[in-house]
Amino acid sequence: MYGVWDDKAFKIESGNQNKYQIIRWIGNGSYGKVFLGVIEERYECAIKIFSSFSECTLKREVYFLSQLQHPNIVKLYDVIENEQQNQSIIMEYIHNTPLNQVSKKLTLKEVKILFVQLLKAVNYIHSKNIMHRDIKPSNIMFNYNNMTLKLIDFGLADYYIQNTKYSIHVGSINYKAPELLLHIHYYTPSIDIWSCGCVLAEMIIRNYPLFEGECLNDILEEIIKLEGTVVLTDFLRKEHIQISRCQALHLVGRKTRSIREYTDPVFQKKQTPGLIHLLKELLEFNYHKRPSTSYLLKHLTEFLN
Ligand SMILES: Nc1ncnc2c1ncn2[C@@H]1O[C@H](COP(=O)(O)OP(=O)(O)O)[C@@H](O)[C@H]1O
Ligand SMILES: [Mg+2]
Repeated sequence: MYGVWDDKAFKIESGNQNKYQIIRWIGNGSYGKVFLGVIEERYECAIKIFSSFSECTLKREVYFLSQLQHPNIVKLYDVIENEQQNQSIIMEYIHNTPLNQVSKKLTLKEVKILFVQLLKAVNYIHSKNIMHRDIKPSNIMFNYNNMTLKLIDFGLADYYIQNTKYSIHVGSINYKAPELLLHIHYYTPSIDIWSCGCVLAEMIIRNYPLFEGECLNDILEEIIKLEGTVVLTDFLRKEHIQISRCQALHLVGRKTRSIREYTDPVFQKKQTPGLIHLLKELLEFNYHKRPSTSYLLKHLTEFLN
C-alpha cells in the first residue's frame, strides 16, 4: 500500500437527492461527468457524478474537500446517491473559462492576480500537510469576470508524512515533476510547486504546455532541453540514482534552451524579470531545493515588481 490516506474507515453519509436537479453537462473527467445543477430550484451548483467503479476516488475527494475551507478552493456542499447507486458530489459551481481560451488575453496584472491565488490555495493545503498531486489547468477554475481562481479535483490528494512511500502514478503527463519521472516514491508536497510552475508557463510563455510529449521519457527529455543535462547529472549523483544507458544517451549533452525559444510573441510583454525568476524557482529540478509556497508568498514583492 502506497501513501497515507486509507478509505476503509471513512463512511459517507448521503444527502437527499431530491434537492438537486441537473441542468446541463459542463465537463468530463477521468472519473465521471460534471453537470451544472440547481439546489431547491434556486441556487447553482456543480454535480460531479462518479462512475460506479470510482468509489475510492470519490471517497478521497469527499474526505479532502471536507477538510478544506478556503476562498481559492471549491466548496463541497453534499454527497448524494441516485437509484442506479451512482454517487455524486455536489459542489460550488464556478463560472470557468479554460485557461487556454484566456491566456492570450490575460494582462500582466491579471496573471499576477490569478497566480497569487493559486499560490495561496496551494499554501493553504500544504499548511494542512495535504498534497493535491494533480495540479493542471483543467483542475483550476478561472472566473474571468471577477478574476478569481479556485482549485478543484482532490481525487488524487493525500497527506504528506515524511519518509512515506507514495505512488508515482499521480499528476498528468505535462505537469509531472521530474522526481515522478525518475520513479522517486519518497517525494514531497513540492510536486505541486512544480505543477504550479507549468501552469505559470501557460500564462506567460504560450497557451499550451511547456513540456509536451507522448510518454514520460519524452517529458523528461523536454525538461532537460530547458534546464540542461548538468542539473540532471548533478541530481542523479546526489540522489544515488541510476538511469538506463539508453535513457542516458538520450539525455546527455543537451544544450540549454532559453525561455525565449518557447515564447509565443503575444506573451512576451508578461515576461518581467520577476515572473521569469518566479518561474525558475517553481521549476527547480531538484525537489529538495524547490521553494515552498510560504517562502514564495513571503517574497512576493520580488517576483511581482
Ligand atoms: N465546481 C465546478 N464548477 C465548474 N466546473 C467544474 C466544477 N468541477 C468540475 N468542473 C468541470 O468538470 C471538469 C472535470 O472535473 P474534475 O473534478 O476535474 O473531474 P476528474 O476528477 O474526473 O478530472 C473540470 O475540468 C471542469 O471543466
Ligand atoms: Mg480533473
